[in-house]
Amino acid sequence: MKLNNYPIGIFDSGVGGTSIWKEIKTLLPFENTMYLSDSLNAPYGEKSQQEIIDLSIKNTQFLLEHNCKLIVVACNTATTNAIKTLRKTFTVPFIGIEPAIKPAALQTKTNTIGILATKGTLNSELFEKTSSTINKKIVRKEIIGKGLVELIEGGKLYSDEMTVLLSSYINPLIAQNVDSLVLGCTHYPYLIPQIRELVGTKITIIDSGAAVARQTKAILKLNNILNSTTNKGRHHFYINKDKGVLSQLIASDSGCVTITEKEF
Ligand code: DGL
Repeated sequence: MKLNNYPIGIFDSGVGGTSIWKEIKTLLPFENTMYLSDSLNAPYGEKSQQEIIDLSIKNTQFLLEHNCKLIVVACNTATTNAIKTLRKTFTVPFIGIEPAIKPAALQTKTNTIGILATKGTLNSELFEKTSSTINKKIVRKEIIGKGLVELIEGGKLYSDEMTVLLSSYINPLIAQNVDSLVLGCTHYPYLIPQIRELVGTKITIIDSGAAVARQTKAILKLNNILNSTTNKGRHHFYINKDKGVLSQLIASDSGCVTITEKEF
């Protein structure tokens, strides 16, 4: 088989990275993908940087053993803590995701932006570095979304617990004059309908999933490894926990999908 036909590898601490997978699948319908959901070890956001690096290396090794031609780190926490090490350790191209604070800074009218992300992302060196490049006049309200990933992983996306927790993070932002909210975790796009209900039209929600898909396409093209066939892509998911929540999240895209529950 030609390298072009090998899958794009995607990993996340859990099921959240499927929000990125959906964007990739839409933009690149002929690409095969392999998605690794490390749900057993979620959340990454509360772990040390070394633990996040070790898990990210393990996930990458798994995907490379399955012949992936490029790796998408579909996790802000893993990107901001480990992508530098991954790029030094492996020769395959990596695409990462980090909170889209630059677009938020460009569009805010109140000069106040909200960033909802994990502790691991907000405390990372990379996030600090990116933050230092935006206009100094812009006030950043950073919120650690503690507990949100656990509720999504636990199948409680729509639950009273979620409503209470999410309101406690989002409501203060409205009072603080925030007009742009950056979703800095790939699990959070699944919360958009509920966030929208809380903020109405007062706040623009910024999510970088589509940008990651565009960057994936650009890097495949640059390396001359875009899939050259016009067959609909095949998608293989590996998860080290019960597949129930994952199946629900990707139910509307279930054509050509296989899910394997497996320890890794
Ligand atoms: N989806 C991961 C992210 O983008 C969640 C991290 C976690 O497991 O805490 O950051």
